[in-house]
Amino acid sequence: MVRLLVTGGAGFIGANFAAYVSQCHSEVEITILDKLTYAGNRDNIAKLLGSHVRLIVGDICDGPLVDKLVCQTDMVVHFAAESHNDNSLRNPWPFIQTNIVGTYTLIQAASKYHKRFHQVSTDEVYGDLPIPGNGEKFTATSAYQPSSPYSASKASSDMLVRAWIRSFGLQATISNCSNNYGPYQHIEKFIPRQITNILSGRRPKLYGNGNNVRDWIHVSDHSAAIWDILTRGRIGETYLVGADGEMSNRAVLEMILKIMGQPQDAYDIVKDRPGHDLCYAIDATKLRNELGWRPQYTDFQSGLQATINWYLTHQERWQEDKNSVEEAYTRNSQ
Ligand code: NAD
Ligand code: TYD
Repeated sequence: MVRLLVTGGAGFIGANFAAYVSQCHSEVEITILDKLTYAGNRDNIAKLLGSHVRLIVGDICDGPLVDKLVCQTDMVVHFAAESHNDNSLRNPWPFIQTNIVGTYTLIQAASKYHKRFHQVSTDEVYGDLPIPGNGEKFTATSAYQPSSPYSASKASSDMLVRAWIRSFGLQATISNCSNNYGPYQHIEKFIPRQITNILSGRRPKLYGNGNNVRDWIHVSDHSAAIWDILTRGRIGETYLVGADGEMSNRAVLEMILKIMGQPQDAYDIVKDRPGHDLCYAIDATKLRNELGWRPQYTDFQSGLQATINWYLTHQERWQEDKNSVEEAYTRNSQ
């Protein structure tokens, strides 16, 4: 058996990754370490829990707990984070604590016990591209230019991992992925917010002029990429993960409205996010050429349709939180 510690495994991507590994690699024993913040949900992993998958409720900033769990594992995949830009603008402190101090706590233990470590990061560390649609994309050598407290905290944690690789021989890789979509995503994020707005009789909300571009990838394709990097990636390397899925927010919203049988203009334009990044686009050539990774979910519309169906058939997962999430946005006029 291979022992794998997955931090943040009760959140959106971590839970999808744990499901992917337990389905495809039965030789892996998974321990999920998750604080179960507002973004974590035991139900996301309930079906997985058993002899091969266990959940430890705890904080990645808890040094003694992290030391014990890292000592008992073979590999660490680190997802746990405060992950929402809008929250980081309202209150940056939890982002500094979890994303920076938490990552520091984990890499100290991984270095001490010589454990394989994979840092799950975001393309947002590179800031934004100035002109959507001109073919320019981020690569592993793009400069770090984070715009928000969230992306600055993720950039900081990547820098710590890089320094620990060089100074302490940490056996680590880093992946910087574009925007994920799929089941289990918290309803504060763009796609699930709009789907659940429509399902609950609210109007979708588009920030600013809606021309900001995001590079969408299905969460299952991200999971496969992380597994490939963890098992076959070169130590010390950074791999960018993306599926050439650039679309403006307005185009994504119009697709959601169409699939859900709503008029194309049935949404509100609301106040823009301060410092809102204009455009992200990923060049994943290195991942494709070195590790042979290819995205499987290449039809965005059918992936979106399946995601809409998931929120439709799992209303118990989000209905209780919907009012408070929307009230928080209303307080900020978004
Ligand atoms: P999420 O917010 O859905 O989940 C985060 C999980 O971490 C939750 O289960 C939460 O309970 C847990 N957590 C938070 N603080 C913790 C702490 N101190 N100790 C232990 N657990 C804690 O986030 P997500 O969208 O699944 O993102 C996971 C990772 O992937 C993050 O590191 C994020 O930066 C990165 N990422 C996300 C995207 C995206 O589109 N969502 C894209 C690229 C990279
Ligand atoms: P989000 O899901 O917060 O991801 P990120 O900020 O990490 O890209 O937002 C995706 C895009 O959608 C981003 O450009 C902001 C925009 N957005 C809206 O237009 N309306 C919304 O209600 C939200 C939450 C986001």
